[in-house]
Amino acid sequence: MSKKVSILVGSLRRGSYAAKIARNTISMFPADWDVQIVEIRDLPLYDFDYDDPEITDKPTPAAYTEFRETIKDSDAILFITPENNRTIPACLKNAVDIGSKPNADVAWKNKHFGIISHSVGRMGGYSSQKNLRLALSYFDMVSPGQPEIFLGQSPSLLDEAGKFNNEKTENFVQDYINRLVALVTA
Ligand SMILES: Cc1cc2nc3c(=O)[nH]c(=O)nc-3n(C[C@H](O)[C@H](O)[C@H](O)COP(=O)(O)O)c2cc1C
Repeated sequence: MSKKVSILVGSLRRGSYAAKIARNTISMFPADWDVQIVEIRDLPLYDFDYDDPEITDKPTPAAYTEFRETIKDSDAILFITPENNRTIPACLKNAVDIGSKPNADVAWKNKHFGIISHSVGRMGGYSSQKNLRLALSYFDMVSPGQPEIFLGQSPSLLDEAGKFNNEKTENFVQDYINRLVALVTA
């Protein structure tokens, strides 16, 4: 049966390596699955007033509602992120926070998820990935186990068209996607 996967990219930059990695992963899912990169650029900064029933002059932004519905409709979420100052970029944390409210209807709850972190240096976005896992640990989400994916020196893994330029990386990422697919279809 066809499934829906939402990919969230933790970078807003036009030339983002995370976005390039994200585009590589789309065709790694089963061909009949609906796999989309979900835009998080225009989500207003999280403000609990929007969700506070006692505050009536600040309605929930339509972008929040649309984002939450997209996540709730998804069978899996794939996060692909760089690291900013040893943690996840603000745009991605904002999206995590928006999906985490209201408490009675958390969009992330019980979802399957995967994380691919990257860095231009050698660490592969280790702290970013671990911080993202820490945030998501609140929502009873399920992800593939080892090996996790930390792509170090990410520019060297991509060709001019933004495709993975070597089989080792491609197979490593494909194996991770296969394990995420197996969780979703179990
Ligand atoms: C504000 C800022 C903070 C950064 N902090 C880190 C960091 O802590 N660790 C790291 O490996 N790279 C860090 N970098 C480098 C980014 O990983 C690099 O710019 C990367 O290309 C961004 O990902 P993207 O290509 O997907 O946009 C930082 C970059 C910026 C702009």
